[in-house]
Amino acid sequence: MTDRFVAHITKQAIKERKAHQVYKEYLEFLSWLDSVSEELEYIIELGVDRGGNLWAMQQIAPHVSFIAVDSNIGKLYSEDYKQGTVFVNEKSADAALKIKKLYVPEKTLVFIDACHHYKFAKKDSQLYASKYQVFHDIYDDKKDNRIPKLFNEFKDKKEIIKEWGDKENHIVGIGVRLDPTYK
Ligand SMILES: C[S@@+](CC[C@H](N)C(=O)[O-])C[C@H]1O[C@@H](n2cnc3c(N)ncnc32)[C@H](O)[C@@H]1O
Repeated sequence: MTDRFVAHITKQAIKERKAHQVYKEYLEFLSWLDSVSEELEYIIELGVDRGGNLWAMQQIAPHVSFIAVDSNIGKLYSEDYKQGTVFVNEKSADAALKIKKLYVPEKTLVFIDACHHYKFAKKDSQLYASKYQVFHDIYDDKKDNRIPKLFNEFKDKKEIIKEWGDKENHIVGIGVRLDPTYK
């Protein structure tokens, strides 16, 4: 994909399709996704909300099979998703076992953005073990017991390969963990 195309998709996803994302870091994430997309056969999004990020990832990695999980999937902004996208209207922890047969962890990226409490995000990272785990809100400062705590644990273990955002001003932040099992 050209840089211009990725920038266009980033803008569209935020402005027209209600992705919960901040332009600069999201552009960096989607550009990185483009660079690794050939390694991937599956992308799972946990916490889809209005579906803007799901749509954007489908434009960047059109050859990939997608699984979209949300406990309230009825909020999707539009219906023009890739044919064959599997939508699961359940809590991420409940969906995990049911969809296990639908993907191969070493060829999968999971975007973890469902419940942001430490305990639940950690459970998601265990239940959806896969090559790349992307975390959103890594610089959230609302409470201690949330995604940043989990992200920093992975950082201490040197498993984080990318992070984008403005840490000092607690502007959202996106980070990528490479599971050491699938290196
Ligand atoms: C911040 S929004 C996701 C935004 C989306 N990833 C994006 O980038 O546009 C979080 C979503 O997670 C869903 N959610 C919250 N807890 C969940 C859970 N335990 N299992 C599945 N979905 C959950 C909510 O319904 C909400 O739609």
